[in-house]
Amino acid sequence: SLVRGIKGLDNLEKALSTYLNIKNVIIITGDIDSDPFAKEELGRVAALNLDKIIETVKTIAVTGGNTLAEFANHIVSENIQDLLILPARGGLGEKVEIQANTIAAKIADKLNASYRLLHVPDHMSKSSIEQLVNDPYIAPIINLIKQTEILIHGIGNPLEMAERRKLSLEEVDNITQYDVQGEAFGYFFNKKGDIVYSSPSIGLNINDLGKIKNVIAIAGGKSKALAIKAVTKAGFIDCLITDEGAARSILEIF
Ligand code: F6P
Repeated sequence: SLVRGIKGLDNLEKALSTYLNIKNVIIITGDIDSDPFAKEELGRVAALNLDKIIETVKTIAVTGGNTLAEFANHIVSENIQDLLILPARGGLGEKVEIQANTIAAKIADKLNASYRLLHVPDHMSKSSIEQLVNDPYIAPIINLIKQTEILIHGIGNPLEMAERRKLSLEEVDNITQYDVQGEAFGYFFNKKGDIVYSSPSIGLNINDLGKIKNVIAIAGGKSKALAIKAVTKAGFIDCLITDEGAARSILEIF
């Protein structure tokens, strides 16, 4: 549009796409850190983007977070046949409003699609996780998640995520000693895009990402610039939906 042209957003998208090596980059105007309107707009544009591809897929997995909750809010009611919405991972210790389960159910409701949920307690021991993964009711859901065609996920700042999930001091220590810069679906990445820590949970595994046709990340705000950069380095994102604040900060164009 004219406004996008004047603001140079198309050029910014091209520059960010090249810089981060992501095929498809969509940038909205403003910065969600300081502008509630931009926050809504990020959700709205992400919902519009989903609308374009929704008829071509049968499964979508989503993560939790405020950004994904905003995205879910903006999905327009439709009647989509044969579509299954899933949480990407369970039990990450988020408030119910922003849990992946809640967001998956909300999206399914709007699209008249079906959903399956992962009911997993937070902060489980390794052995309980193993048991859960092999549980005859839970294993089939995990299998569905691992075969999802689309993954839509948020990106966060590691320390904020540690605090939000009330990770133990030991876990936080683990996180800080490796210079972690970004978090996505329970995995913590350093600036090279290597995973240095992962929250014990079940569902999608980092090794499943290669098989997923379309991985869409939604994250904005200048404060997430380093986090977006770090997670992007891991190389699995096909489409990034972000804002000018994050984009300019990543590219250092102000
Ligand atoms: O905990 C779920 C999650 O998607 C994280 O993986 C991510 O870092 C975070 O939420 C993003 O949250 P927000 O959109 O609130 O910044």
